[in-house]
Amino acid sequence: MSESFEIKGGKKLKGKVQISGSKNSALVLMAASILTDEDVALHNVPDLLDIHTSIELLEKLGKKIEFVENRLVIQQTKNISTEAPYDLVNKMRASIIVLGPLLAKYKKCKVSLPGGCAFGPRPVDLHIMGMKKLGAKIKLDHGYIDAETSGLVGAQIFLAGKFGPSVLGTDNVMMAATLATGETIIDSAAMEPEGVDLANMLEKMGAKIEGIGTSTLKITGVAKLNGVEYTVIPDRIETGTFLIAGILIGENLTIENCNPEHLAYPIELLKNMGAKIEIKKDSIIVSKSENLKPFTVSTSPYPFLATDLQPFFTVLGCVIAGTSSISEGIYPDRFQYTSELARMGADIKIEGNTAVIKGVEKLTGAEVMASDLRAGAALVLAGLIADGKTVVDRIYHIDRGYEKLEEKLSVLGADIKRVEK
Ligand code: EPZ
Repeated sequence: MSESFEIKGGKKLKGKVQISGSKNSALVLMAASILTDEDVALHNVPDLLDIHTSIELLEKLGKKIEFVENRLVIQQTKNISTEAPYDLVNKMRASIIVLGPLLAKYKKCKVSLPGGCAFGPRPVDLHIMGMKKLGAKIKLDHGYIDAETSGLVGAQIFLAGKFGPSVLGTDNVMMAATLATGETIIDSAAMEPEGVDLANMLEKMGAKIEGIGTSTLKITGVAKLNGVEYTVIPDRIETGTFLIAGILIGENLTIENCNPEHLAYPIELLKNMGAKIEIKKDSIIVSKSENLKPFTVSTSPYPFLATDLQPFFTVLGCVIAGTSSISEGIYPDRFQYTSELARMGADIKIEGNTAVIKGVEKLTGAEVMASDLRAGAALVLAGLIADGKTVVDRIYHIDRGYEKLEEKLSVLGADIKRVEK
C-alpha cells in the first residue's frame, strides 16, 4: 500500500502559511548532539520523515530522545554505539553527518557508505579526505567507512570538489575539528545558512569558530562541549516552494515565520522577471504574477540559486511565454522529473546539464510519480496549476522533507488530498 496526493488544479492560494524549521539544519544540529554528554534541546524541529530517521539513528548510537510538538530533547544514555548501519544510512544519505562527531567524540566509528540517489552520484570523498587530514585512519570495508584515530589534530583543509564546496562535508569537518587538538582552517567552506546555524549552535556549546558565514572557517579545538538549548532556523527551501506556488497561483499569499534574507538571490531573480513579491522582516507576501519574463539561470552554491529550488523554477518556466532555461551546477543529472512534467503537457528538452523550457498555455492533470523530495513537491505545484486532476504517486519522498504539505496547502484553499492506493 502506498500513498498519493490527488490534486484538482486551479484553486487560488490565499491566507497565511507558517514555514517550519529547516530540515537540513535540524539534521546537522541533531548530529552535533553526539559531541556532548549533556542535554541538547532543539526548538522548531519539523515533524517529518527524515527527522524520525535521524531520531532512530541517534537512538541506535545511544541517545534517548523526546520529540513533542516540534521540541526535541536529546539525552545521553550509557548504551553507546559508534556504528551507523546500512539500513538507516540507506534510508537517508544525510546520516553520513554522524561521521565527524562520532570520530571526534569516541575516536572510532563505522558509518555505512550512502551510495547514489535518484538524481545521480552523491560521493563522500570530501568527507573522508577531511577526516584523513585531521589524522583519522580510514578503511573502506564491505560498504562501510571504518575510521579510527588516536586523537584528531587540527589541519588546513580545502573542501571543494568539481561542483564546489560540500555542505555536509563542511559540517562534518567543522564538528570533528571542534574537539581536535589545535587549529583547523577550512578553505572553500560551504556558506549555506544551515551550516551557519550549526556553527552558531556549536559556539553556544563552547566551540571556538571564526569566519562563520564566510568561505574560510577557523576552528580552535576545545576539550569538551556543553549541552545547549537552540532554535532551528526556518526552512528556506520550503519558503521557496510556497513563494513559487504564490507566483503561480497566489492571491496575497502570506508566507510567515521565514527568513527572506536566506532567499535574497532567488527573490531578486523572481522580481526581475516581474513577480509580485513584497518582503517584510520575517514574512513574504506574494500574488499570481502575469506576463513574467522568461529566465536563464544556473544553480550554484549559496548565496546563489539552490539546486533544491531548481525543480520549482522549472515548473514556473512551463507557464511563462517564451523560452526559459535552467542549468544544474551541482547535480548535473537532477532532471528526471521533467519527463513526468512532459506527461502533463510541459515542453522541456534536456541539453547536457540544462533544461530548456518552452512555456505552454496550460499544464493538464495526469498521474505522475515523485522521484525525489524536491521533484515530488514540484509535481504538486504543477498539479495545483494544471487543468483537471493530477495524482502524484510515491509521496513518501515528499514526506521526507515537508511537514504537513497537504494540510498547509488545503488551509490556503488548494484542493489536495492524501489517498491510499
Ligand atoms: C546538502 O547535501 C543537502 N542535504 C541537499 O539537500 C542539497 O541538495 C545539497 O546540500 C546541495 O545544496 C542536506 O543538507 C541534508 P554537497 P550534501 O556535499 O551536503 C559533490 C534536500 O532535498 N560532492 O554540498 O550531501 C556533490 O556530488 C537535499 O534537502 C563531492 O564531489 O551535498 C555535489 O555535486 C537533497 N564529494 C556537490 O559536491 C563529496 O564528498 C555538492 O554536494 C561531497 C559532495
